This record gives sequence, structure tokens and C-alpha cells, in this order.
Amino acid sequence: MRIAVAGKGGVGKTTVAAGLCLLLAEQGRSPWAIDADPNNCLGYALGFPQDLLADVKPLSEMRQILAERAGSSAGQGGMFLLNPDVTDLIADYEIKNGNISLLVMGVVDEGGAGCMCPENATLQTILRELVHAERDLIVDMVAGLEHLGRATAQAVDGLLIITQPRDSALRTVPRIHKLAEDIGSARMWVLGNNVGSDQEAARIRGSISQMPVIGTLSHYPGLQDDDVFAGASGSNLKSDLSQILTKLKQQLDGDA
Ligand SMILES: Nc1ncnc2c1ncn2[C@@H]1O[C@H](COP(=O)(O)OP(=O)(O)O)[C@@H](O)[C@H]1O
Ligand SMILES: [Mg+2]
Repeated sequence: MRIAVAGKGGVGKTTVAAGLCLLLAEQGRSPWAIDADPNNCLGYALGFPQDLLADVKPLSEMRQILAERAGSSAGQGGMFLLNPDVTDLIADYEIKNGNISLLVMGVVDEGGAGCMCPENATLQTILRELVHAERDLIVDMVAGLEHLGRATAQAVDGLLIITQPRDSALRTVPRIHKLAEDIGSARMWVLGNNVGSDQEAARIRGSISQMPVIGTLSHYPGLQDDDVFAGASGSNLKSDLSQILTKLKQQLDGDA
């Protein structure tokens, strides 16, 4: 199963991405967890030990090496022209905890409000490689999908768009859908998060016509953002999310 998790900032992408990885790992699978958000929260949400995360080497640092291997001007902000062999690099940059392998994209320069193009070119190169591995892949995307590349779309079986029953989050959904459609994303689902009532669930279902709503998650008071399945709220999230995972699998198996 290869899924990219998208949505407006704060809707719960990292929480869901981490939860899906943890569930897959518990089922004996060995997922790749890709933190494509420069905030780098996914490792914490997965409950990776602090000392492991302190040593993490961000993919953005790989840029120069990739540029050299690709023989292109990527170091100057250009795109990678060739597809360099990166298997050894991935092994060098991954951090593992149990069955889960984490790669983080890296922090974008302070104040650099602008383009993450070189970082994204690196991410695309890595995803193009990972797609050949027979492993699950969960990508925690950046809030704006402007940087979503074709390689990302092709590397995943589908895009899971998280929303909440609020205007600002709901408004973002069709925009993400359009962007994702333009770059050739095959499947998309909406997942409602922080849904406190049947009315709110109905509101999400009523306002989304472009794609199926795969399900909803409640609000779990006091949910942790480090180690998302910790505590009573975490275990409620876990059981609700495992139903979503089952549905996603059924839908993907139905396609196959
Ligand atoms: N269903 C939920 N119930 C309670 N808190 C939640 C829920 N979903 C997310 N949160 C909290 O909201 C904050 C933002 O979630 P996060 O997953 O980091 O969003 P994103 O990655 O989309 O920015 C985090 O502190 C997280 O613990
Ligand atoms: Mg996040």
C-alpha cells in the first residue's frame, strides 16, 4: 500500500500518516515513512526515540551528491536530468525503529519563503527509487500541494486528503483534488478528522462530490502529537484508524 497524505495545515496529516505506519508495522509489514513536510514531525508522531531523531540526516543534504551523480545543475536549483542510482544513499539516510524506516525531507532555510524546488527534486528522485521496493509507503505531505510532483503521484496508489468539518479545511479539498488530478493522481479519498457529531460527518460528506469519503475520525481529547497511539485517546484513534486502513486496503485490492 502506497499512500500520500495531504490536506491543509493542522488538519491531522502527520497524525494519520504516523498512525497508518504504526498499524502496518504492527501487522508485520515494513513501511517506509516519508516526512515530506519541512517541519519534520513525523518521527516524533511515530514515537521514534529522541536520540535516533537527533541524528537524522535530512534528504535536502543529499542534493549536492545527487547533483554530482546526475551530472546536472541541480546544485544551482535546476532539475535532475538523469535518474542517478540512489539505493546506497537511501540506506545511509534512513533511520529505522522496529519495522519502520523513516526518511525526512529536511528543514527549509529560515525566512526562505520561497521555492522548495531543489528539495522536491530530491524527494522525487527518492520516491522514484522507493517505488521499486516491495514495501508499503506512507508520505506525509506539505500543506500546500503546489510542490506535489508527478513522481509522487506515480509513486503512490492514492492520495488521502484529510479535512475537518470547518469551512477553511473543506474549501481546500477541491483545490487539492484539482492539483492532484492535473499531475495524474489515480485515486483520491477524503478522510474527515476531528469529527464530533453525525451532523459534522454529514457536512463533510455533503460538501465533497469529487471523490469518496473513506470515513471519519473523532476528536480525541488530549491526543499526543509525539507517539500518536499513546494513552487512552491514542488507543481510540488506533481502533478507528484501523477500520479506515481496512477499507483502504479493500478498495486498493478491488482495483488490483
Ligand atoms: N482527531 C484528533 N483529535 C485530537 N487532536 C488531534 C486530532 N487530529 C489531530 N490532532 C492534533 O492536532 C494537531 C495537528 O495535527 P497534525 O497531525 O500535526 O496536523 P498536520 O500534520 O496536518 O499539520 C496535533 O497536535 C494533533 O495531535
Ligand atoms: Mg504535519
